[in-house]
Amino acid sequence: MKITITGSLGNISKPLAKQLIAAGHQVTVVSSKPDKKADIEALGATAAIGSIGDAEFLSSAFAGADVVYTMVPPSFAVNDYRKYASVFAHNYAAAIKSAGIKRIVNLSSIGADIDGGTGPIAGMHEAEIVLNQLDGVAIKHIRPGIFYVNLYANIGMIKNLGFNGGNYSADTRLVLVHPNDIASVIAEEIVSDFEGHSVRFVSSDESTAGEVTAALGAAIGKPDLKWVEFTDEQAIGGMIQAGLPEYFANLYAEMNTALRNGILWTEYDAAGTKPTGKTKLADFAKEFAVVFGG
Ligand SMILES: NC(=O)c1ccc[n+]([C@@H]2O[C@H](COP(=O)([O-])OP(=O)(O)OC[C@H]3O[C@@H](n4cnc5c(N)ncnc54)[C@H](OP(=O)(O)O)[C@@H]3O)[C@@H](O)[C@H]2O)c1
Repeated sequence: MKITITGSLGNISKPLAKQLIAAGHQVTVVSSKPDKKADIEALGATAAIGSIGDAEFLSSAFAGADVVYTMVPPSFAVNDYRKYASVFAHNYAAAIKSAGIKRIVNLSSIGADIDGGTGPIAGMHEAEIVLNQLDGVAIKHIRPGIFYVNLYANIGMIKNLGFNGGNYSADTRLVLVHPNDIASVIAEEIVSDFEGHSVRFVSSDESTAGEVTAALGAAIGKPDLKWVEFTDEQAIGGMIQAGLPEYFANLYAEMNTALRNGILWTEYDAAGTKPTGKTKLADFAKEFAVVFGG
């Protein structure tokens, strides 16, 4: 099959490209950076260099593809994430129409069913709505849980303050996922025969914030590492101090509030989803220890 994937050599797109190439597919990878061309070609893919903000470029990158994988790249350079995601989704829709694409697998998020109060996830809600307006295009929205790799952002806190923490309690349930496990599900869907517009959740493990902290602590040689619950104000202040723009600090605190309330998991649970991804928390803790030791 001919497949175009967006997201460059990011967390999901790199393992996805590798899996698809290993299975014998012809893969084109979209990156905004000319200097990624060589790395993309080294995987055995064709590089399409340009911005997904440019619908004309996208249309040429999608032309001839049997399936396209779409995603909205994270950006800290915006002050309305919902609008940002909507603009990218409209670009995708325009390019999908003009290139005559009939099947797409779109990266969304757990909680994308909820219309707001979920931080950046509301952008994924918006993007799903925009893409679902495409007539005659089969769409599978992939809704992963929280990426394990987000925990790398806590390395500074663990090193400098000696604890892990956020604006939710140690017994807050977390639905976690490894990018490799998301890539496997996307690769599976790309070659499947889904029809219409539908959703698939994906997770690798479920743990509380306290259990996650204990697993990471054990892996980095700090068995007494504890989770500390912050107030929303403390969390926002800490994120700003760590260099996050104020808008995003507020957005992440809002997402964590949705997580604390458990509302992010409602549809995931209603769908009867189980964490079937291969990479369990203990496996990720070993990867975390390597980066922590860095
Ligand atoms: N983190 C979580 O817990 C979580 C949970 C659920 C869903 N998600 C969703 O996952 C997505 C992130 O996926 P990911 O981690 O695989 O992404 P990622 O690793 O951040 O990679 C995205 C890549 O897209 C490329 N890119 C950025 N701007 C571009 C542009 N204008 N045109 C073309 N390419 C551009 C960049 O590569 P180049 O520099 O090479 O262009 C970037 O490395 C987001 O949509 C997020 O909402 C995240």
